Amino acid sequence: MNLKDKKVLISGGSAGIGKSIIQELVRHGVQDIAVIGRRKEALDALKSEFSSVNILTIQGNVSEVQDLERAITTITEVWGELDILINNAGVVSAGLLTEQSDEDIINQININLTGLILLTKKALNLLMKSREGAIMNISSGYGYIAMPFYSVYAATKAAVGQFSDAMRRELHQYPLHVMTVYPSATDTDMMKTAVVGEMDTPEDVAHMSVEGLVNEEINVILGGKEREEQIKMNFLEPKKIDEFAKAHFDALKERTKSHRSM
Ligand SMILES: NC(=O)c1ccc[n+]([C@@H]2O[C@H](COP(=O)([O-])OP(=O)(O)OC[C@H]3O[C@@H](n4cnc5c(N)ncnc54)[C@H](OP(=O)(O)O)[C@@H]3O)[C@@H](O)[C@H]2O)c1
Repeated sequence: MNLKDKKVLISGGSAGIGKSIIQELVRHGVQDIAVIGRRKEALDALKSEFSSVNILTIQGNVSEVQDLERAITTITEVWGELDILINNAGVVSAGLLTEQSDEDIINQININLTGLILLTKKALNLLMKSREGAIMNISSGYGYIAMPFYSVYAATKAAVGQFSDAMRRELHQYPLHVMTVYPSATDTDMMKTAVVGEMDTPEDVAHMSVEGLVNEEINVILGGKEREEQIKMNFLEPKKIDEFAKAHFDALKERTKSHRSM
């Protein structure tokens, strides 16, 4: 896929992985990028940071249907077209299921999954008219291998992968590629309250994601060969992953006890 002059909408492009994806898109010749995010200051900062391209900011929350409708109406009015949707906005709240607030459970599902599905639905009318377009959904390594203390987050991210696969098959008559990115731990604001050893940089994740888009890959999995082996093991011998999780349960509990980025 040639990204030059494509019109792109990205959710959560004002920080972390999303912002690095914008940087990569600009490097590939994208000139028009619409960004949805909740914080106005973070959106405004993008305009000065990427002053060589047109940044169309839409302040909104992906879990609010009217904000999604406003986003698509704005893009329809300003551009009248859209080629690529990148569903990147996401939140996390770790902890035993019994200790997570109902609010954090509902909001993780609404932001990471329901909002992603609804934004896709509302953007499709424009995307289906693109001569060469794509939908990139950002899942997580936990979308393949679920771990204790991340039951709700992992559930939303596994669902994102399944949604991508179903949509790619549903849209086969259109020139629209649908793909999923599965980042490992990445050094962004989302991870500030977690205790993690080595992390990828958001630039690495963005580079792999946009290369995957250009090459029309279906799944971009961060974490290398080792991660691919673990995914195979999780599928073929899940009890081995259970044993690993059991052996590391207390350490993982300690490292994730304050992990929350909502
Ligand atoms: N960092 C990791 O280790 C890691 C690993 C695997 C997967 N991921 C996934 O990668 C994606 C990006 O994560 P990140 O680490 O870059 O997170 P981040 O640094 O916290 O950035 C999240 C971005 O999403 C926006 N956002 C959050 N909730 C939103 C909402 N309800 N509506 C609109 N925008 C919203 C934020 O802006 P506002 O706060 O202003 O809305 C921000 O721009 C997420 O889907 C995450 O689950 C991250």
